[in-house]
Amino acid sequence: MLPLSLVFLSCLALVYAGSANKGDNCTQADSRLQTGTFQFFDDCNSVTYCASNGTCLLKGCRRDDFPFGYAKGAHLPDKCDVGQFCPDEADACQPLLSVDSPCQLNRDDECEAPPNADALRDTTNRGLNFNGAVCLNNVCMWANQTAGNSCTVENTAYIAYGPSGEFIDIVSRGNCIVGLYCDSTSKQCMAEKALGAACTADKECGSWNCLSSGTCGPDTSIPNHVGTGVYVAVAIGIFVGIFGTLLGLFMLHRRQRDQEREKRMQYWREQNAFHQNLLQMRQTARASILSLPGHGNSARSTMYGRDGMPSDEAPILQHAAPKGSGLRHYMGDDSSEYDEGMMMQPTTQRNDGRF
Ligand SMILES: *[C@@H]1O[C@H](CO)[C@@H](O)[C@H](O)[C@H]1NC(C)=O
Ligand SMILES: *[C@@H]1O[C@H](CO)[C@@H](O)[C@H](O)[C@H]1NC(C)=O
Ligand SMILES: *[C@@H]1O[C@H](CO)[C@@H](O)[C@H](O)[C@H]1NC(C)=O
Repeated sequence: MLPLSLVFLSCLALVYAGSANKGDNCTQADSRLQTGTFQFFDDCNSVTYCASNGTCLLKGCRRDDFPFGYAKGAHLPDKCDVGQFCPDEADACQPLLSVDSPCQLNRDDECEAPPNADALRDTTNRGLNFNGAVCLNNVCMWANQTAGNSCTVENTAYIAYGPSGEFIDIVSRGNCIVGLYCDSTSKQCMAEKALGAACTADKECGSWNCLSSGTCGPDTSIPNHVGTGVYVAVAIGIFVGIFGTLLGLFMLHRRQRDQEREKRMQYWREQNAFHQNLLQMRQTARASILSLPGHGNSARSTMYGRDGMPSDEAPILQHAAPKGSGLRHYMGDDSSEYDEGMMMQPTTQRNDGRF
């Protein structure tokens, strides 16, 4: 939380500046740190500073790689060499300040590093110190106090903005070594607390995250890692989802297919019954014709009667598919590979059955 808001504030710091251009008048007495943001402000715009003679002059140094307010391709002032710093006013580079010298708020980089800088340096990226040096209450010192030692603490109340509006964000800094924090009341260096321990401020937690419940929560800057079980559960979920959908669609379509098949069966039965009726009528008619005197052994009767069955249904079959295909296949096989054309073939089936 805090490092993030600090980043946010330092971004804001580059945005606001006075409006006086180069050569315009300015008053150095106006230079100040803005309320709430503690951003440096003077009358001059973002590419100039207010010189001691009351004129805005071009800045003489910069701290950022990409400083705000410069046109694209414009010449930028140089960054300062090692052993120097660029103050908030950005008028000119100055040599680093020794211990106990006055420094600007949050400008640990203005102070000279201790001899054992490598051991004291903050590598946690939390802005605890710069090369082991720290600027507290505008005084340069080293962050070298060990557990139980007395320490210096600096509390700065920033105005921050959240979903519920404005709130005070107190940033508390001390000169304890990394891994310890400076307790505001006892002014002693104490070990940072472990996950779940009671806390009152982020600085007390090793994870740098004191939850509103008053216990140290997990480090918010560490990416979330989920267990293998979650991956397995998600994979199973995906497969169950896919195959569940496929199975569901298959069942649904099978039911529709069965309904369709039943309809066709019904149609076929109707047609069949109808055809049987026709045949019976025809047979009855023929029988009555044959029973008439003089028609007993005519050529026609031998032609019709060879198989004892009517062959005059041949015209119905002449456009039908060959025997053994079509509906017989459809009837005997549930794979249901049929189309509208098969509606024409009940006669084939019936004849097959008959013969
Ligand atoms: C700047 O200040 C000088 C003297 O201090 C004054 O004469 C001049 O009018 C001022 N210029 C502007 C633009 O205010
Ligand atoms: C202020 O100083 C700068 C540089 O020293 C100079 O260019 C400028 O003319 C001076 N302005 C006034 C009002 O004296
Ligand atoms: C700790 O830092 C202070 C300056 O803040 C310095 O005077 C003192 O000598 C240092 N102590 C040790 C043990 O390095």
